[in-house]
Amino acid sequence: MATTPAQRSKVEAALLTPVDWLEERSGLVGGVRHFLFRNVPSDLTWFQTLGSATLTAFLVQAITGVILAMYYKPDPNSAYQSIQHITNDLTWGWLVRGMHRWGASVFIILMFMHMGRVFLFGSYKYPRELTWLIGVLLLTLGMFEGFTGYLLPWDQTAYWATVVGININGTGPFVGPFLSNILRGGSEIGPDTLARFYSIHMLLIPGGLFALIGLHLYLVVRLGVTSPPWSKTAAGRDRPPEVDTRKQGLVEPGPRGSGGAS
Ligand code: HEM
Repeated sequence: MATTPAQRSKVEAALLTPVDWLEERSGLVGGVRHFLFRNVPSDLTWFQTLGSATLTAFLVQAITGVILAMYYKPDPNSAYQSIQHITNDLTWGWLVRGMHRWGASVFIILMFMHMGRVFLFGSYKYPRELTWLIGVLLLTLGMFEGFTGYLLPWDQTAYWATVVGININGTGPFVGPFLSNILRGGSEIGPDTLARFYSIHMLLIPGGLFALIGLHLYLVVRLGVTSPPWSKTAAGRDRPPEVDTRKQGLVEPGPRGSGGAS
């Protein structure tokens, strides 16, 4: 059955009503439009996909981690068995665990490669210093996430690697012994250490990572992406004046077609 233009515009209006409702109250639609249609340099390279690759690795870790947490038991008497159960008995358990275990290394390696790209392209310079500083925090938290996760299987490798890690922290000047006590949760590695590492690994660091990645990406979108150093439009070279339309959708919310707030 053919639809008339009048019918089509009625359907369109009905579909757009919730979108308009949301836009008037939040400016979210303008924000998403700005995100999707913003200008980026025309000569971007594959090296500039490393940030998104890192983000993808992080999301894979978050999803597989949530699944593992449904079966893992953070107790010295059952931690190892629960990991064996996940690997040997659960449907696709070996895959989810393998993705999480290997994905941790992939995440860290990608983070370093992304940081190397940012450094070699000089993308940390004005006005992106804050993006870099947040990146430094992400790198630190990311590695601490790997350290706390390593103990969880509670096998010989996990135990002794953690002994070494905690002892290294203990050699730090002034705060060293204090730090290793906090990490151990007592004078010896035991149930309290495992519970502590689990909580930090599951709640504290992922929360921090999510928040900081959000801030990192906000700055990436707000400041725009840099051109490669060899580009004709790279920073420091003469280029035609740019028209800045970046914030339009966010600062001029209003009903669709009204042309924004006046
Ligand atoms: C969880 C870790 C991280 C995620 C998910 C992430 C994500 C991203 C994404 C998606 C971009 C835009 C695309 C790109 O340039 O590749 C970006 C840009 C940037 N990142 Fe990261 N990043 C992370 C860690 C880091 C680290 C460790 C540093 C440096 C210490 C860093 C510094 C920067 C800078 C300065 C930019 C702007 C680059 C430009 O404008 O060309 N990031 N990041």
